[in-house]
Amino acid sequence: MTKLGIRGGTTTNMKLLAWVDEIAKLCKPDSIHWCDGSQAEYDSLCQMMVESGTMIRLNEAKRPNSYLCRSDPGDVARVEDRTFICSKNKDDAGPTNNWVDPREMTATLNKLFDGCMRGRTLYVVPFSMGPLGSHIAHIGVELTDSPYVAVSMRIMARMGQQVLEVLGASGDFVPCIHSVGKPLAPGEKDVAWPCNPKNIYISHFPEERAIWSFGSGYGGNALLGKKCLALRIASIMARDEGWLAEHMLIVGVEDPQGRKTYVGAAFPSACGKTNFAMMVPPKGFDGWKIWTVGDDIAWIKPGADGRLYAINPEAGFFGVAPGTGASTNPNAIAAGRANSIFTNVALTDEGDVWWEGLTDEKPAHLIDWKGRDWTPDSSEPAAHPNSRFTCPVGQCPTVDPDYENPNGVPISAFIFGGRVSKNMPLVFQAFNWAHGVYLAATMGSEATAAAVGQAAMRRDPMAMLPFCGYNMADYFSHWLSIGRKLSNPPPIFRVNWFRKDANGKFIWPGFGENMRVLKWIVDRVHGRGYGVESPLGFMPRQEDLEWKGLSFPASKFYELMAVDRDSATAEARSHEEHFEKFFDRLPKEFIYERELLRSRLWRSPDVWELAHDELIS
Ligand code: GTP
Ligand code: SPV
Ligand code: MN
Repeated sequence: MTKLGIRGGTTTNMKLLAWVDEIAKLCKPDSIHWCDGSQAEYDSLCQMMVESGTMIRLNEAKRPNSYLCRSDPGDVARVEDRTFICSKNKDDAGPTNNWVDPREMTATLNKLFDGCMRGRTLYVVPFSMGPLGSHIAHIGVELTDSPYVAVSMRIMARMGQQVLEVLGASGDFVPCIHSVGKPLAPGEKDVAWPCNPKNIYISHFPEERAIWSFGSGYGGNALLGKKCLALRIASIMARDEGWLAEHMLIVGVEDPQGRKTYVGAAFPSACGKTNFAMMVPPKGFDGWKIWTVGDDIAWIKPGADGRLYAINPEAGFFGVAPGTGASTNPNAIAAGRANSIFTNVALTDEGDVWWEGLTDEKPAHLIDWKGRDWTPDSSEPAAHPNSRFTCPVGQCPTVDPDYENPNGVPISAFIFGGRVSKNMPLVFQAFNWAHGVYLAATMGSEATAAAVGQAAMRRDPMAMLPFCGYNMADYFSHWLSIGRKLSNPPPIFRVNWFRKDANGKFIWPGFGENMRVLKWIVDRVHGRGYGVESPLGFMPRQEDLEWKGLSFPASKFYELMAVDRDSATAEARSHEEHFEKFFDRLPKEFIYERELLRSRLWRSPDVWELAHDELIS
């Protein structure tokens, strides 16, 4: 029996039973609870956390069946420098991952995990990434001592008895072991957010396809189905099996004639995937609709027809709260109206949540994310910059009818975009697949709050720098090889919503207005949109975008699109530095692409200058 008083899930899977036994012997929890994923179980775990002070139940009238959690201020984001790829061979992890010899890491982890769940319950959390039973889905089982993780996993993935049924007596699963790393001595009182931030290890074993996470209870560090399984481990499976596991949203664009075009878009963490995935078309776009398949992760497989098909392996959104409001992303607000968990946002006097950007006007009084009184005069923000909402995908008003289609949706274009304040145009299109892969692989982006300790500016290839489970040079080659398997590879685009003017203000209004760029992309897919050939790629002229409903002077558009030849040349030169660390594994195609780029910049084709002299200064 467990403390919960709920019977829990059952299985006859011997491998799973033996493994739970083995891990329980190591971690020494007081009790074990097998999650069945029921509403009753969810409710009773939340009630238990309300009583222990981990959760605050929100006002039932304003935010039904929803809770607020405040983490330890030392445990608020992913910790990239404590994330490890423990492949047997160091070169298989590559120069961009932290590598530790698997034997050494196993020894370290065995010590850390020995007795680490004393005084706690071990929750067995069976989950499916992807629709239950889909041939594209994969099953994981997370063993965790965090009830917050158990309930969050019920929103973020298909979780519980139904997964054990699919697993059956002999099915296979990815073993995921998680501990907050804070055992309790007999009689010791627990804290609201137990963690061990000085001792964090987010470890991946590519050969065993196993995940061990210690010390953090937050987000991608702890919800192991997300970045650890669906990206780091899945990227390795994808390499071996000929598909792609990507840090991408998936969106369907429906035009007024009812034709739907699906697009996959990769932006680094906190760079606008959630907003783009559920965008509201602006004024002037009557008859256009945006349909949401996913906001963070895409699993993409070549189909028998030579096209790519994508599924969202997740069942929930774990979205950045600040900057999400009724005017910027009303669909995310609607998705989080009930049955949601909010972490590190502020609490209103009415028992609801608030964060910067939720409303234009700041409430007169709040309790901030650290539990302190807050007023508009306070010097710190009320919500942590990486505070998040956790809510079911199904609650999003724009959820695509094919969101759970086990065969996925056909992808017609890829978009890559970083957060770049200077010298990166609003949009341009790669000349071909290899050039597009090159553009994605050289993508730069400025730091955000989604991970601690990031450099101000870094290369973030395909927005996968923190998430690729193997050597990134092999990953580039894998992308190139996928293109060769397709009858007609999707066109690839670069975008940048974040260019700033001399006063440090964003030039582009962004959010729903990004639809204007998306429409040009869809037009290009269908051979309708015009594109000028520039040294960087095909670019729209001002007259090639739909401007109905927005007054945006042509001069400002060209300010957004302009490429300064000297900085573009310096940028191309720095690609060389970026590539150097990949050494002999770098695909040869990239050397040619760089030389082509440099010669285009140097020669600057007349046709381009004549057609478009505003674009270069
Ligand atoms: P992860 O969940 O961390 O992978 O990130 P994400 O890409 O889903 O991030 P999200 O969409 O939640 O973006 C977070 C931030 O981007 C918020 O602060 C938004 O206000 C901001 N943002 C989103 N779209 C735009 C845009 O078009 N322009 C500008 N300037 N900011 C944007
Ligand atoms: C990201 O950081 O890209 C996220 C949030 O999507 S987390 O799950 O914490 O990684
Ligand atoms: Mn993400």
